[in-house]
Amino acid sequence: MALITSKEMFSKALKSDFAVGAFNVNNMEIIQGIADAAKAENAPLILQVSAGARKYARQAYLTKLVEAAMIDTELDIVLHLDHGEDFEICKQCIDNGFTSVMIDGSKYPLEENIALTKKVVEYAHAHGVVVEAELGKLAGVEDDIKVDAKSATYTDPEEAAYFVEKTGVDSLAIAIGTSHGAYKFKGEPSLDFERLKKIHELIPNTPLVLHGASTVLPEFVNKANQFGGDIPGAKGVPEEMITEAAKYGICKVNIDTDLRLAMTAEIRKFISENPAEFDPRKYLSPARDAIFQMVQHKIKNVLKASNQR
Ligand code: G3H
Ligand code: 13P
Ligand code: ZN
Repeated sequence: MALITSKEMFSKALKSDFAVGAFNVNNMEIIQGIADAAKAENAPLILQVSAGARKYARQAYLTKLVEAAMIDTELDIVLHLDHGEDFEICKQCIDNGFTSVMIDGSKYPLEENIALTKKVVEYAHAHGVVVEAELGKLAGVEDDIKVDAKSATYTDPEEAAYFVEKTGVDSLAIAIGTSHGAYKFKGEPSLDFERLKKIHELIPNTPLVLHGASTVLPEFVNKANQFGGDIPGAKGVPEEMITEAAKYGICKVNIDTDLRLAMTAEIRKFISENPAEFDPRKYLSPARDAIFQMVQHKIKNVLKASNQR
C-alpha cells in the first residue's frame, strides 16, 4: 500500500458511472471512520486537508494520521490538499508527501487563474503529483437565480475547455449550483445539468470535481436538533443528483459537512443521554461509528464506488 495519485481511479471513474468520495479530515476519529468504510466497501479513497484543518490539527499530525490509516487498512490512499490558496502552500504540501493538490484560483480573472494554475502544474508534475483547479464560483445559491447571474458565476463550458488546454491541469472543479456548508438552497435544490453535460462534452477526458456536494442528511440534522442543536432550514444536494452527476464526468465528490453533522449529532445525543460521562472515548466512539455508517452508505448507494478499487 502507498499514498497514490488519483490518476488511475479517475480514468476508471471517467469510463464508468461511479465517483470517488473525497472526504475532509480533521482528526483521528474522522480519518478512522472514513478509511474503515472505504476498506469495508473496497472503494478508492481520497482524504483531503483544508486550510482550516491544517490550522486546527496541524499538518504533521494529519499527514501521519493518514499514513497510519493507510498502514492499518492496507489501502492505497490519495492525500489531497483542498482549496490551496497560493503556489507556496501547494509547493509546501508537494514537498511534504501530498500526492494531489488543489490550486483554487477561482477568485482571480481567467488569465490570472491560468497563470497560477500552470505554475503549480509545472512544479507538481515535476514531482509526480497531480493538480485540481477550479473555474467558476461556488456562491450561495438562490433558487430563482437568473440566467445572467448564472453565467457570471457558474463555469462557462468554452472557458473550461480553454482553461484545461492552457494549464494541463489533471482535474477541474466546476460550479453548477452547489455551495459549501449546510445551507445550499433556499427553495428546491437544483443543479445545472445542461451546463455539466456541455462541459463534459467539450472536455470528455478531464475528470470533473463537485465541491459542496454534501446532502445534509435530514437524519443527522434532526438528531442534532432533537438533542439541543439549532440548525434550522439546513438543505443539501439530494443524493440522486450526485449519482446522476457521476454519469457526466464528475469523478470526485467533495464531502465535509455531512461528516460534521454525523459526528455532532452523535456527540449531542450521547452527552445528552449520559450526563455523568466525561470520558471523551465514550462519545467519540459512537461519533466515529456514525461516520463509518454514513460514508459506507455514500460509497455504496450514492457514489456507486464499491469494489471499484
Ligand atoms: O471547502 C470547505 C471545507 O468544508 C473545509 O472547510 O476550511 O472549515 O476546514 P474548513
Ligand atoms: P460540503 O460543505 O458540501 O461538504 O463541501 C465540502 C467541500 O467542497 C470541500 O472542498
Ligand atoms: Zn470545496
